[in-house]
Amino acid sequence: MNLQSLLREKRVLVLCGAGGVGKTTTAAALGVAAARAGRKVLVLTIDPAKRLAEAMGMPEGGAEPTPIPPERLFAGQEPGPGRLDVWMLDPRVVFERFVRRLSSSPEAARTILENRLYRFLSDLVAGMQEYAAAEALDNFLDEGGYELIVLDTPPSRHALDFLEAPGRLARFLDDRIVSVFLPEEKSRGGRLWRKTSQLVGNVLGSIFGESFTQEMRTFMGAFSGLFAGIRLRADRLRSRLTSPDAAFLLVTSPEGASLSEAAFFRDMLHEKGLPFAGFVLNRSWAREDGLTSPEALLRHVEDAGAARDGVEALIRLADLERARAEAHRGVLARLAEKLPAGAVAVAAPEAGGELEDFGGLVRLGEALATS
Ligand SMILES: Nc1ncnc2c1ncn2[C@@H]1O[C@H](COP(=O)(O)OP(=O)(O)OP(=O)(O)O)[C@@H](O)[C@H]1O
Ligand SMILES: [Mg+2]
Repeated sequence: MNLQSLLREKRVLVLCGAGGVGKTTTAAALGVAAARAGRKVLVLTIDPAKRLAEAMGMPEGGAEPTPIPPERLFAGQEPGPGRLDVWMLDPRVVFERFVRRLSSSPEAARTILENRLYRFLSDLVAGMQEYAAAEALDNFLDEGGYELIVLDTPPSRHALDFLEAPGRLARFLDDRIVSVFLPEEKSRGGRLWRKTSQLVGNVLGSIFGESFTQEMRTFMGAFSGLFAGIRLRADRLRSRLTSPDAAFLLVTSPEGASLSEAAFFRDMLHEKGLPFAGFVLNRSWAREDGLTSPEALLRHVEDAGAARDGVEALIRLADLERARAEAHRGVLARLAEKLPAGAVAVAAPEAGGELEDFGGLVRLGEALATS
């Protein structure tokens, strides 16, 4: 299997890796390649670099995916049946929509969203932001409008926590301090607990004021109603992401730190039973194996002696470049060792300033798909 067949066959591609290695760029370039090859593709990006957002024409904080105009998508080739939408995820927008959908009534949703504690708490609740990305993914998979969804992840070792986030959310709410705020019928303690809860409530009431405590109780009560929905979705999403329809690609640069991060992610995927599909060695010279030596050029020069002085520096430079390409090929070869069946190790070139425009992404996508 190569990257091209992944792009042709998978329904979900998730890109993970250390900070700044090119996850978002790779996600975009792969999305472009798959759409040009004829699939209906959605790229869900997280916090893209400004120049990428500009090259793709993505509006910031949009409430839904933006289609790439066909004339841009298919520049330089015959228009095909493919389509490319991109969405710069705003976790807050996604989460609010999610609260609305899962709440028992529009009033219950409003209780949560309009509560002045909501913003404060949505930052505090560990995993809520990561969960938003997963939530968006699950939704689009449900709607079935796309043949392939490429999911970018945030630069963190916690990038895959969204699979566990509902568990973490639940732990947060199960926490006894928090359950103090739950309406009585929803907290599980006995008489003693109720007394404690009352006491804590009173203390907090005297610190924050009675209305604050009441507001917190209402909020937590409404919120706890979402949990059944969250659990259900988490289970479904986990089974979707562990299925053979999904593939996780690890992006890395040729540098040691990001390579060890890639190794960390590979172990983590294994641990979580997620389908590891290979490595993208980004910004590498691994494929520059056709470099001509300046010495070879000198063979065609008549007065080679005089020209040689002038090109000494060039020769040294070429030697360095060759050594770097050699080193990167070594890195790629090591990444390719012990890959599971069907997984790939591909090198993406350093695109320099090319990524300023959409054409640069097209070329990067092609380089990835055909390597
Ligand atoms: N192959 C490439 N050639 C040239 N520049 C690249 C390449 N890949 C990525 N870049 C540049 O590197 C920078 C970081 O890339 P990108 O935002 O895709 O990384 P990321 O892994 O998503 O970062 P973060 O972890 O912050 O989300 C950007 O300026 C991007 O344009
Ligand atoms: Mg990124």
